[in-house]
Amino acid sequence: MITIKTPTTRDDFKAYYALRYKVLREPWGHPKGTEKDDYEPISEHFMAVNEKGEVVGVAKLYEKSAGVGHISHLAVSGEHHHQGIGHLLVRTVEARAKERGFHSIGSMARVTATKFFEKYGYRVTGIPSLHFGTTHLVWMEKELT
Ligand SMILES: CC(C)(COP(=O)(O)OP(=O)(O)OC[C@H]1O[C@@H](n2cnc3c(N)ncnc32)[C@H](O)[C@@H]1OP(=O)(O)O)[C@@H](O)C(=O)NCCC(=O)NCCS
Repeated sequence: MITIKTPTTRDDFKAYYALRYKVLREPWGHPKGTEKDDYEPISEHFMAVNEKGEVVGVAKLYEKSAGVGHISHLAVSGEHHHQGIGHLLVRTVEARAKERGFHSIGSMARVTATKFFEKYGYRVTGIPSLHFGTTHLVWMEKELT
């Protein structure tokens, strides 16, 4: 069974960032450290943990601009894709964004993940741009009702 937790201990954060690096940076040979951005301190962090205590998915939320949440660095371990973990993380982050009173939420989605976000009502509102010279990202957004 998968549960969503907030990392609190040093070990939690180590596992949280390790998964982010493994899924979002390592395959493209990006150096350690690139898995973090300037928004870490103002973000709420979420991790999906399996019955063995392993971190199998991660995401974070911060307020991008007044009333607009940003779900960023969403990543699920390759061995656990297509088990509903990504959707569970999105639902959890959206619920928190609503709790905080945000009127909308968006993501700088990989162009390979736009179909995933479209399933949950996100629409492309930006122009794709190249990130770290390897990955095309595009802003997708939805209203929170
Ligand atoms: C995109 C990602 C987070 C999806 O996670 P996941 O746990 O495999 O997704 P889920 O199992 O919750 O899938 C939910 C639905 O979306 C579909 N889906 C999953 N990934 C998809 C993709 N890349 N494109 C289209 N549909 C996708 C699933 O088939 C499923 O559909 P269903 O409910 O009709 O069966 C995961 O593939 C990932 O970490 N990818 C690499 C990093 C990335 O792209 N991050 C997100 C954007 S930055």
